[in-house]
Amino acid sequence: MRDGTQVIIRPIRSEDEPMMVKFHETLSDRTVYLRYFTSLSLSRRTAHERLVRICTVDYEREMVLVAEHKDPQTEEQKILAVARLNELPSDRPDKTAEVAVLVSDRYQRQGLGTELLRRLMQIARDRKISRLVAEMLWDNLPIQVIFRNLGFTLRSPGDAASVQAVLDL
Ligand SMILES: CC(C)(COP(=O)(O)OP(=O)(O)OC[C@H]1O[C@@H](n2cnc3c(N)ncnc32)[C@H](O)[C@@H]1OP(=O)(O)O)[C@@H](O)C(=O)NCCC(=O)NCCS
Repeated sequence: MRDGTQVIIRPIRSEDEPMMVKFHETLSDRTVYLRYFTSLSLSRRTAHERLVRICTVDYEREMVLVAEHKDPQTEEQKILAVARLNELPSDRPDKTAEVAVLVSDRYQRQGLGTELLRRLMQIARDRKISRLVAEMLWDNLPIQVIFRNLGFTLRSPGDAASVQAVLDL
């Protein structure tokens, strides 16, 4: 990360559920709102059924990456950020996938969000996905800056509350 902290970026695993609970405990209300477009409570975000679904990736259609840090003193491992790619169902041969990213408040502005999205873009290219899309709130300017810097085009669909980012690969 920008401050020199070492992280490992890897696919999520089913054993990550307890670390995912702790990760969600670190998120501010604002961060949750920006990611889910609503104030999803901690108990709903950490419900076992939900986390099992998130931690068990269907590699045919999706990918979830986590940025993990191991405290050198305590050896405690923490998840600092999570990013996902979901292929959208389609009858057409060209595949489109949606991406989203979520960084723990304390570790924002360290380059993690950008790096996770960069990795998902590479995974999408490797999987011959033709197009990436992402949806964000119109006032979520940080993520709009990031998508623009990564080459995405931003556009506003009819509804003024959100902005869509699109990248043809
Ligand atoms: C948006 C988010 C993913 C960004 O992740 P991050 O790791 O903090 O971002 P990065 O460190 O990669 O930032 C890259 C650039 O984006 C811009 N940026 C990021 N956060 C910013 C902020 N809070 N204010 C202004 N610009 C910001 C800056 O230009 C930054 O570069 P700089 O630090 O050199 O100036 C993170 O803030 C987050 O999880 N937000 C809540 C959830 C969310 O909005 N998810 C997106 C839904 S798709």
